[in-house]
Amino acid sequence: MADQTSDQGQAIEALFAEKRTFAPAPEFQKTAQWKDPAVYERAAKDFESFWAEQAHRLDWFEQWKTVLQWDDARKAARWFDGGLINASYNCLDRHVDAGHGSQVAFAWEGEPGDTRTFTYAELLAETCRLANALKELGVKRGDRVAIYMGMVPELPAALLACSRIGAIHSVVFGGFSADSLRDRIQDGSCKALITQDQGWRRGNKILLKNIADDALKASPSIEKVIVLKRVGDAVDWTPGRDHWYHDVVARQSDKCEPEKMAAEDPLYILYSSGTTARPKGIMHTTGGYLTGVSSTHQYIFDIDPSRDVFWCTADIGWVTGHSYIVYGPLANRTTSVLYEGTPDFPDKDRFWAIVEKYNVTVLYTAPTAIRTFMKWGPEYPKRHDMSSLRLLGSVGEPINPEAWIWYSEQIGGGRCPVVDTWWQTETGMIMLSPLPGITKTKPGSATFPYPGVFADVVDQSGKSVPLGGGGYIVITKPWPAMLRTLWGDHERYLATYWSKFGHLGYYFPADGCKRDEEGYYWLLGRVDDVMNVSGHRISTMEVESAFVDHPMVAESAVVSKKDDITGEAIAAFVTLKGGGIGSKEDADNLRKHVASKIGAFARPKYITFTPDLPKTRSGKIMRRLLRDVMENRPLGDTTTLADATVVKNIADLAQSSPTEE
Ligand code: PRX
Repeated sequence: MADQTSDQGQAIEALFAEKRTFAPAPEFQKTAQWKDPAVYERAAKDFESFWAEQAHRLDWFEQWKTVLQWDDARKAARWFDGGLINASYNCLDRHVDAGHGSQVAFAWEGEPGDTRTFTYAELLAETCRLANALKELGVKRGDRVAIYMGMVPELPAALLACSRIGAIHSVVFGGFSADSLRDRIQDGSCKALITQDQGWRRGNKILLKNIADDALKASPSIEKVIVLKRVGDAVDWTPGRDHWYHDVVARQSDKCEPEKMAAEDPLYILYSSGTTARPKGIMHTTGGYLTGVSSTHQYIFDIDPSRDVFWCTADIGWVTGHSYIVYGPLANRTTSVLYEGTPDFPDKDRFWAIVEKYNVTVLYTAPTAIRTFMKWGPEYPKRHDMSSLRLLGSVGEPINPEAWIWYSEQIGGGRCPVVDTWWQTETGMIMLSPLPGITKTKPGSATFPYPGVFADVVDQSGKSVPLGGGGYIVITKPWPAMLRTLWGDHERYLATYWSKFGHLGYYFPADGCKRDEEGYYWLLGRVDDVMNVSGHRISTMEVESAFVDHPMVAESAVVSKKDDITGEAIAAFVTLKGGGIGSKEDADNLRKHVASKIGAFARPKYITFTPDLPKTRSGKIMRRLLRDVMENRPLGDTTTLADATVVKNIADLAQSSPTEE
């Protein structure tokens, strides 16, 4: 793990070149919901009371008996034990009951330009109908339901329908391959699948039902499939198993009693890449999760439900969409924009056209997108009136100061605070972020832990590193939205997150971090074998096993290479059976193969064919040296290699025959 220091040295230099700081503007502060820094002290003094206060923002059928119980041996938290709650009730019914049924929950824009709006009353009715359909098809409390869809309004309704009846949803991002979908369905033994015929993406049709059919060939747990008609092309059909959404949902009652769930009942599983090829089923529960996401959404984005139009551009297939398109915003009665497609369809100004059309006030997007917009140039945002914007957020990867400043100036017109939010699928909610009415921001820094969240930066031995130094970020106390386990594999949960600093009670996110003299946190990227490509988390091992699954490939090693747009890009070193050097066509075929095994977002940008890989005497591939090769750095210590000439050869091969996409 320590072998990432040279990468981080470079990152730190670039980060600290920007010296400007940005204090909250007085006009913004005037109406900001949190403007008194005392909130940090209050939360620090008694964090359980703080979180109980946040939990009271929700409606409970039954009040909890204890705020937090912590089982240190199993690293298991129980938040709000004894409390009974329903997530969909909190996201829908209570707003409708309070007279806000006609407020828009989602203003949806399809990629081809078609639009639909769902008010809170309509979303409640749709959720209830879908929940009743699931029940009719035999789905019961505790069953797992896989969801494989594009960004259509029925997708949030599907999550909410599951939570309404106490079923556990397992959303699989619509860009994943059949194999990836199958693995996730199998791991969760899902009983039903909700999907759609096809989806739109950059003018092309994504054949979701086709891919799902492939996945279902080896998914015996699936008994029923609900298929939404979105695009309209014909699909294969398995009678008895497959049901059209418009047949089975439309005829249901629009009333469905919400299940009273224990606070600690599972809400969902969401798979994320780890350091092995097998994805991890991160499990979140109900009461603490909803408390964490609604509180952070409210105060970090400074949401006033009667004023704001919130747009989180993530896909609901990732955690950002779960927490900040579905559960957080709806729990806070927010009006949100939901967009189906890509930022460059039909032209590169699509995002800004949407901001103008819907008067978006708060925009939450990823650094990769921001850097792409920078590359396209300021003429695209300039085509539109974006004066409605009042706050900007960033998530998914470290934001370089240059992109931060561009975002602030070109998109925010210099008047919008920028919140860089650091968190993970595992944390469920934002952990580090400025509070826009309080925090003086520094471009490139996620600033400080949210009130009630406790972090530190430590060295290898777990000792706190004094301000000004760098090491690993750790979370030192439980938080309500934390993952509770990995689905069906608590041992792996303990090994992954707690083996390093668990004896100190610290959760280990596997991110490097530096704190400056003023205590600001500067996140520096992963310290394990996980890559972050365009904000997508991809395991090096997952890509390696996709390579070796190809009949031509004997062995492969995958590392990341810094990339101006995507943050990191996938660089693969491949040994062919027989040891020859592959052609450009071979490289393209391998790229296609990896995309078909995992998903198009995992296509390797660089492929270097090599007869050998650098290995230690015990046979371990030295990825550090391969990273040095890709970054054109002098090769570090090679004395532990079994054969030191191998890496020199690879460096020559990477120079002379780069196979770049
Ligand atoms: O390395 C960190 C990076 O993304 C990882 C989490 O990825 P995932 O679980 O897919 O969730 C992404 C959306 C929350 C982290 O371990 N990361 C996320 N946000 C930031 C970040 N790195 C730096 N700054 C951020 N704001």
